[in-house]
Amino acid sequence: MTFAEQLKADIAVIEPALEQFLSRETGEGYDRIFEAAKYSAMAGGKRLRPVIVLEFCRLCGGDTQKALPFACALEMIHTYSLIHDDLPCMDNDDLRRGRPTCHKAFDEATAVLAGDGLLTAAFETASAAEGVSAETALRCIRILGQAAGMNGMIGGQVLDMGAEHRRISLDELRLLQSLKTGCLLRAACELGCVAAGKTDDETLAMARTYGEKLGLAFQIRDDMLDIEGDTATLGKTVGKDEKSEKSTFPSLLGMEECRRQVAGLTEQAVQAVSGQENSAFLVELARSLTDRMN
Ligand code: IPE
Ligand code: IPE
Ligand code: MG
Ligand code: MG
Ligand code: MG
Repeated sequence: MTFAEQLKADIAVIEPALEQFLSRETGEGYDRIFEAAKYSAMAGGKRLRPVIVLEFCRLCGGDTQKALPFACALEMIHTYSLIHDDLPCMDNDDLRRGRPTCHKAFDEATAVLAGDGLLTAAFETASAAEGVSAETALRCIRILGQAAGMNGMIGGQVLDMGAEHRRISLDELRLLQSLKTGCLLRAACELGCVAAGKTDDETLAMARTYGEKLGLAFQIRDDMLDIEGDTATLGKTVGKDEKSEKSTFPSLLGMEECRRQVAGLTEQAVQAVSGQENSAFLVELARSLTDRMN
């Protein structure tokens, strides 16, 4: 299978599973919350994080079906983080994944609750994983909790909010990004290995390095797209970072240096996995993200 075919095949497994995990309507008066959660979750994101979970599982020789609940749980957490990130009290965005943001399509209270619901559903989904040992499930749940939590993505979002209308140092920006974006991407890599039952230090270090380097490259590219992207292709409004005077990689380094760093970090991610058998997909995935337009 080519890279593109494999990517498509992974997404074709992830999307129906995600939708099924989120289809718990009861017919009672609160079903609108499922509508809001699915509106955001099924809006056609790139599915990068769940694809990485499945592919690290495959790299480790595991059964990707067993990794699927953890992959879906991570995508639920990611989607929740986007819904809340877009709220008026945070980045105040109107467009996400090519659609009006959740609070625009519904209302603010529903968007807050849809985010809360997705975060909670993630842990229910992960804890219901079948065919893995209780120890594996627990370990995966801990990875999810740590990555999404206050010493992870949330902490990064706190730093991000504090990086508006002022210039922070490059070290501060690296810490901010490694938490807000890096943690979930690193968790994706680790989850794949753990779900496959491969938990030796060397494997986990390899997975973490790939996730960290890819995560940094990914956020630099995200910041660049806010400047050089096109709203229709990106599916989110460009120029928002500058408008909120956010410290970003381009604002600190300039576009050319950003481009150079994305390339360098991508090669470091590639290096981390290139010693492994069957790493071709992860190598191509990292490289394909360097000049992504959405
Ligand atoms: C956007 O993530 C938020 C960042 C961490 C930069 P993605 O670019 O992966 O968003 P989707 O899932 O494809 O919408
Ligand atoms: C968001 O970073 C990261 C998280 C949601 C944790 P950004 O604010 O840069 O993401 P976009 O550009 O809105 O997708
Ligand atoms: Mg933000
Ligand atoms: Mg944002
Ligand atoms: Mg951004």
